[in-house]
Amino acid sequence: MYVAQPIAWTDRGVVMLDQRRLPAEEISYTYTDYREVAKAIREMVIRGAPAIGVAAAMGVALGVLHSRAASLEALRGEFAAICDTLAQTRPTAVDLFWALERMKRRFAELSAATSDLAQIRQGLVAEAKLVHLEKKATDEAIGRFGAEFMPAAGQVMTQCNAGALATAGIGTALGVIRVAFQQGKKLHVLVPETRPYLQGARLTAWELHRGGIPLTLITDNMVGHFLKSGKVGAIVTGADRIAANGDTANKIGTYQIAVLARENDVPFYIAAPVSTLDLSIPDGSHIPIEERAAAEVTHIQGVRIAPDVHAAHPAFDVTPARYIAAIFTERGVARAPYTDSLRALAAS
Ligand code: MRU
Repeated sequence: MYVAQPIAWTDRGVVMLDQRRLPAEEISYTYTDYREVAKAIREMVIRGAPAIGVAAAMGVALGVLHSRAASLEALRGEFAAICDTLAQTRPTAVDLFWALERMKRRFAELSAATSDLAQIRQGLVAEAKLVHLEKKATDEAIGRFGAEFMPAAGQVMTQCNAGALATAGIGTALGVIRVAFQQGKKLHVLVPETRPYLQGARLTAWELHRGGIPLTLITDNMVGHFLKSGKVGAIVTGADRIAANGDTANKIGTYQIAVLARENDVPFYIAAPVSTLDLSIPDGSHIPIEERAAAEVTHIQGVRIAPDVHAAHPAFDVTPARYIAAIFTERGVARAPYTDSLRALAAS
């Protein structure tokens, strides 16, 4: 089954598929400068929480590899600047900060063990490749845990794009659907288009179609209508940050889907790696919500669809834990009370 490859480490540099151009064009760029990687994250050439983490790890490796520092002290200074630049790209997805912390830990280990700069550089490249490699195994494990919760047949719904494009593995929410489909479950996926950036219409529809998984694309304002039909057996979405109590930030529109799911007795699930947990914050009110350009609301693909008025664009919303039936991770399934179950999974 086709699996999209949003990012790859190559001898020429970091290659990224430009997700802004999908599905019309499949264009890739090769980056050799970490500042270009930071710009690519900010401008959404690559997006989706886990994939942003992979890109950040590769950005750090790229920066260190091409740094002209001739001493450990100089490299240490540049390393900090590289991490700061990458940290300032997108605020909500905690995987970005998880990946930077991991690269910082590895830098500290390597620099404590050797002062050979070539070895430190190669060690950080290896770590970034490992971060990428691990995503595949992580997604597959999430998929196996989550697939059990999918109905044997019928409609399921997702939101945004939590597929291979968003994780650099097989996807989290779409990984669950993919594994269930491969197990023989006869699923049909309802895909909300996910205004304003249209990750559902452009990316999820593209991935499912390429993977041969049946789908129906719907507009965001059709969600209630379809959930009320009694034909949707489950909803599964990804996450950008999960607080200690299970409150979950995901793409704008997820909260209203979860509330409508409760109203219509449809189980609403989250699929996310342990790296998306942020147990340092007690609840969702502490999650920073990225505010993106109003032009992404007033325009679609560069074409103005509204007059020149004020427009708001919070890119994420927070679904309170009480609406979430379960959270699928690579270490197992968390159930309410999430404060206990998530802590146990994180420690396992
Ligand atoms: O703004 P995006 O496209 O980066 O937002 C992506 C989402 O909200 C995804 O649902 C989330 O990152 C989970 S990706 C596995």
